[in-house]
Amino acid sequence: MSRSPAASKRQMKLAMFMTGDGNYHMAGWRMPGATCDGGQNIRRWVDAARTIERGKLDMLFIADGPGVSGLDDLRTLSHVSRIDRMDPVTVLCALAMATERLGLVATISTSYTEPYNVARQVASLDHISDGRAGWNIVTSGNKDDAQNFNLETHTPHADRYARAEEFVDVVRGLWDSYDDDAFPRDVAAGRYMNPDKVKLINHKGKHFRVRGPATTPRSPQGHPVLVQAGSSEAGMNLSARVADIVFTSQSQVKNARDFYNDVKGRCDNFGRSPDDMKVMPGVLIFSGDSEAEAREKFELLQSLIPLPVAMQRLSNNLGGVDLSGFDLEKPLPDIPVNSARVSAIESYLTISRRDGLTLRQMAMRAAAAKHHWTLIGSVGQVADALEEWFVDGAADGFSILAHSNPNGIDEFVDKIVPELRRRGLFRTEYEGHTLRDNLGLSRPANRFFHSTARQHASV
Ligand SMILES: Cc1cc2nc3c(=O)[nH]c(=O)nc-3n(C[C@H](O)[C@H](O)[C@H](O)COP(=O)(O)O)c2cc1C
Repeated sequence: MSRSPAASKRQMKLAMFMTGDGNYHMAGWRMPGATCDGGQNIRRWVDAARTIERGKLDMLFIADGPGVSGLDDLRTLSHVSRIDRMDPVTVLCALAMATERLGLVATISTSYTEPYNVARQVASLDHISDGRAGWNIVTSGNKDDAQNFNLETHTPHADRYARAEEFVDVVRGLWDSYDDDAFPRDVAAGRYMNPDKVKLINHKGKHFRVRGPATTPRSPQGHPVLVQAGSSEAGMNLSARVADIVFTSQSQVKNARDFYNDVKGRCDNFGRSPDDMKVMPGVLIFSGDSEAEAREKFELLQSLIPLPVAMQRLSNNLGGVDLSGFDLEKPLPDIPVNSARVSAIESYLTISRRDGLTLRQMAMRAAAAKHHWTLIGSVGQVADALEEWFVDGAADGFSILAHSNPNGIDEFVDKIVPELRRRGLFRTEYEGHTLRDNLGLSRPANRFFHSTARQHASV
């Protein structure tokens, strides 16, 4: 079934979302043909990025966290490919030189960095990539990350979001701290910078005191693209105020539609149009020439997850809750919402109650896709389901979680993308050069300067 045989005007935005080794499914690294050294091998990333760009996806989006989770049980952790990973901004700078049009989005925590550093890093990536950079703003869901940053415990949820709100304002202020033509670099006149085109932001807030200006001139996109991934009340409000893209975890079209309307409905409170924000839920896809073939791949990977690994991951995803005393054959117990995670706990409880899952079943499902949507089917069935969410107002596009690298990426680019294109649901060519151009988002005005000058990087 295809609801849109003719080309429709509105087209999906698509991201490939990758963890540190590129295999999203917990056993993805064991898929025949999968690579498993992405945590230290840049060639894996270059190959993946080129494939994703061949598919003309909007962006490659890297998850991250400044710490290893699951350290309480190293023996169980030793079966997982979620330990080693390279810094995403560093990886993306290398990929900027290996690609031309692909958007490059790095996850960076507002809880364990300073805004001055982040403003500088992401603006640098925007210069290096000629306008293709994005930052996924997270407050960090792993409670143990705190111990790498002079703290005993993770900061409570509300405090993390309060810091994140101010953090983003400082970063955006720094990105505006020069006009686009602040650097004439007039060799003959000996005039490098125009002093009227620089602004010291002199920010003095609850969490930060930052004088500015940035060291990086205003970047090609003005503001690199902002992604926000928290889905609690606080997360949705932050998204409505600042996010160009919302990455969210939704497991059913109805809930996804409710979330979509809720988060977009909040934009008005911040003087923004809902069209300024693209909502892109995550989806783990297993496809094949037939549904049976897709299911076989899924079952193969499920059979390779050791139960202790699944339980450890679920415990981490629930914010570090100890699940050892609970009966595996009974439903997931009522987990109190804790300070590490809010929306994730609510999502897990919803899924397990709705689908009547035991704790064991929930853990195995979480090891595949966490609390994201899992889609298993023939190419046509996968395209039908994506189209349904898109047309029914549940998504502006999707963040594809490839079960393994390169298998899951190839599968999507070579089979699903052509089918979406045939239905008029996805581009055949990139529309522009910057990530904002391709997402259909405008370049933000500079809050301090009103000139229309736009500086291009000199070659
Ligand atoms: C879809 C999604 C993706 C996330 N990705 C990351 C990530 O890559 N790294 C990280 O440290 N935290 C990540 N988080 C955690 C959030 O930044 C946040 O700390 C946590 O979810 C609590 O916020 P919430 O209750 O608003 O969702 C993610 C959260 C969601 C919902």
